[in-house]
Amino acid sequence: MRINANCKINIGLDVLRRRADGYHDLSTVMMPVVGLYDVVEVVPIEGEENEFHSLGLVVDCPADQNLCIKAARLMQQRYGVGAVSITLDKRVPFGAGLGGGSSDATAVLVAMNDIFSLALDEQTLIDLASELGSDTAFFVRNTPQLCEGRGEIMTPVELNLGGKWLVLVKPDEGVSTREAYAGVKPAEPALSLTERLAKPIEEWQNSVKNDFEPSVFAAHPVIADVKQQLIDAGALYASMSGSGSTVFGLFAEKEKAQQFLSVTPFIYQL
Ligand code: C5P
Repeated sequence: MRINANCKINIGLDVLRRRADGYHDLSTVMMPVVGLYDVVEVVPIEGEENEFHSLGLVVDCPADQNLCIKAARLMQQRYGVGAVSITLDKRVPFGAGLGGGSSDATAVLVAMNDIFSLALDEQTLIDLASELGSDTAFFVRNTPQLCEGRGEIMTPVELNLGGKWLVLVKPDEGVSTREAYAGVKPAEPALSLTERLAKPIEEWQNSVKNDFEPSVFAAHPVIADVKQQLIDAGALYASMSGSGSTVFGLFAEKEKAQQFLSVTPFIYQL
């Protein structure tokens, strides 16, 4: 079975507080970007040992630590299913805040649910995905969601971005999730993210923020420059996605978005 495991962007990301378990409570809206995806192929094989093959972008991670293999092992342990061979064609930049690895892992869960006819319901898949990471649960639904808690408590949201042009720019410098959380200063906003997002997009720039930006921009001025370029080029809204380093811009006009064709291939109409 083949799945196009698409990535996501975060529109607003409030880091509310640090928790006793070391994680942080978040409030963020995640939106799928269906045009940019890894291709994950999962086929059942004989024996108990899973196989992992990778193509495309080179992932700097030993195969047995890849989240895809962890997802396969989780399904084997939980449901006693057989082994699989996973081929990952990696196209989504990593260290990017786009959730590529999380999406791949969820794709393996969904594929194995189908291949082994487990008939697991959505909530069970969400619970399994949450065991593998914090962004993974989102990809079970893969529609715009307000994500709270560690990221796994989801409520569907309407965004009304249809027709807008999305430009994703991934600077050469990556940011690790660990680095981003180390620099963040948690704070509770006066108005909820949902309330701020309900205002016209033209008002978002001053109110819909990504709390990772201040420390990440201080350490990587190049990323801040990209955001400023998107704003200067006429973006209605620009922000870093997740823990970075990808920055995205939302444009009303195709021509303005396409000014970035020399900088990035990742330009999509929503
Ligand atoms: O869950 P995931 O593997 O994506 O998270 C990587 C790291 O990011 C965690 O070990 C934790 O330090 C941090 N994190 C956090 N709060 C979250 C999500 C992640 O502190 N809500």
